[in-house]
Amino acid sequence: MAHQTLPPESTPPPADASKSNAAMSEYDYSNFFYSSSDDLFTIFGAYDDWWYGHAREKGYYLFYQAMSTAPKPRIDLEEGLHHEKRALLNLASYNYLGLSYHPEVIAAAKAAVDQYGLGSAGSPTLSGTMDVHVQLEKALARHMGKEAAMVFPTGYSTNVGLISGLVRPGDTIIMDQNVHASIVDGAILSKANTRFFRHNRPDELDRKLRDVKGKKLVIVEGVYSMDGDVAHLPEMVAVAKKHGARIMIDEAHSGFVYGPTGRGVAEHFGLDDEIDIHVGTFSKALGGMGGYVAGSKSLINYLMGFARSRVFSCALSPVVTAGVLKALEISEREPQLRDRLWKNVAHLRKRFADAGVDVAESTSQIIPVMIRKDPRVFAIGESLLNAGLYLQPIIYPAVAKHKSRFRISVSSVHTPELLDTAADILIDVLTKEQIL
Ligand SMILES: Cc1ncc(COP(=O)(O)O)c(C=O)c1O
Repeated sequence: MAHQTLPPESTPPPADASKSNAAMSEYDYSNFFYSSSDDLFTIFGAYDDWWYGHAREKGYYLFYQAMSTAPKPRIDLEEGLHHEKRALLNLASYNYLGLSYHPEVIAAAKAAVDQYGLGSAGSPTLSGTMDVHVQLEKALARHMGKEAAMVFPTGYSTNVGLISGLVRPGDTIIMDQNVHASIVDGAILSKANTRFFRHNRPDELDRKLRDVKGKKLVIVEGVYSMDGDVAHLPEMVAVAKKHGARIMIDEAHSGFVYGPTGRGVAEHFGLDDEIDIHVGTFSKALGGMGGYVAGSKSLINYLMGFARSRVFSCALSPVVTAGVLKALEISEREPQLRDRLWKNVAHLRKRFADAGVDVAESTSQIIPVMIRKDPRVFAIGESLLNAGLYLQPIIYPAVAKHKSRFRISVSSVHTPELLDTAADILIDVLTKEQIL
């Protein structure tokens, strides 16, 4: 997520919004970073005018719509403009292995709430560590084949705490231009020198590393969250090693689904031991919440003292922790879940290839349906919703302005029949809108 557009573009909002209706309808979030007043709150007026007068009705209401069911293949949702209940096919949720509502996961979470209550009631450093956290960290280290692992409240706070805890001003972070916002934010907080290299281009990484002196950290993702393409990891690792850089991989979308034992893209390429820092989340394939770092005992020991987003934040809820522990166990015990996922991915991918749907470079369970710079992205989202398919429009700042899309997340719990119905709806809408 978060293709790099820093510093943000900014067009000051018009002084009198009511006189600029046409212009306002062309605006997006980037027009509301700055205002000319000395009062921080002045920006709210122009933003409200845009949001309530233009943006919401134009399609932004498609964000933040509330679901009233588990993130299953069929969901109930309150449509965001007229607040009507809709029964929809769902291809928008992560939950790649369907574990968020697996009966054993629910039972584990219920037992945990009886034993521990709702929350951890403390930072892990102080009173917040419970035995279930320690069990999860041990199970995860074993799963990853690493000496140690550490759990954070979210994947976001994992990257922020890890990167800012490890890298210092004067050091250099070099990352793929498509890395997630949490990685960018961790790098900003570290105050290290930061550089981006062109997406998935080892030659560009090499060029960016060539003149760098001192400590260096290279950051890539396993599967890129918005494009669904896989890191060119062997080439990246070779370049990083040539320059003496440490390498970190974020497997948020590839952990528990890629690799012979579900360790991720690093395992898929047989490069597990070449990567210095493995990061991931429990919010995608395991259907829970929280993030992790896995690596050497010394790395984890250091982060215990320096990862501020963990030290100064309440530990992950024991209820979620117990559910995630069970989900991890199921993902290890039932590799057939991954087999089913990849069969579903192949099935949907073939339907799209036959129909000529543009899915960019995706090869994974994340399939972007590219609308690119066509302004009809919201109208198409609305048509999909009205036809019974829940897919979110993805626009700037999550992706670059000319790369709007709908992002599909395939799950092992989708059936081929449901995927066919969803594909029919999507292809029909794209044809009517003359995208196909
Ligand atoms: C690559 C990557 N890292 C980290 C995160 C943040 O994870 P979480 O949602 O668990 O906080 C995401 C979320 O989508 C992601 O795609």
